[in-house]
Amino acid sequence: MNIKDNLPKYVVLAFFVGAIGLWFAQSNNPRAVAGIPVAVKLPQLSAQAEAGKKAFASNCAQCHGANGAGTDKGPPLIHDIYNPGHHADEAFFMAAKFGVRQHHWRFGDMPPLPQASQDDIAKIVRYIRELQVANGITYRQHRM
Ligand code: HEC
Repeated sequence: MNIKDNLPKYVVLAFFVGAIGLWFAQSNNPRAVAGIPVAVKLPQLSAQAEAGKKAFASNCAQCHGANGAGTDKGPPLIHDIYNPGHHADEAFFMAAKFGVRQHHWRFGDMPPLPQASQDDIAKIVRYIRELQVANGITYRQHRM
């Protein structure tokens, strides 16, 4: 036996080691979330949602992306996970007040945002909900 006889085996082995390595690298890489940013359709917004859009742009978009489409620092909020049956409006107020521990994604924790007022969040919720509806995301009862 010499290395030449075993060459095909090494090639196959190298392939699998590479594939596993790649899978591992991807699964540990919070920057590589497939499909983010998501495509977001922009509806005609109510006046309150328009105000929310501005508050969102200055407080949230750096992580959650323009129109809540997501970035490499935070998840899209125009996503079925955030439908009102799974994350009620209260979740937005809680998130801004206390921050969020990483649990649904791999972007890390969301810090508390004390600079965002209750009024800002109320408008932001309206904005996100209107975007969600325009993108087919509506109330679905959450099943554990
Ligand atoms: C520094 C980055 C960052 C900023 C700024 C930020 N978020 Fe987040 N947010 C995150 C990350 C990351 C998560 C996902 C945590 C997880 O589930 O793994 C998240 C999750 C959330 C959730 C889901 C909470 C839950 O209960 O699961 C809501 C709602 C939310 N953000 C709203 C907002 C709003 C509103 C703003 C602006 C006022 C904002 N975020 C600003 C990073 C950010």
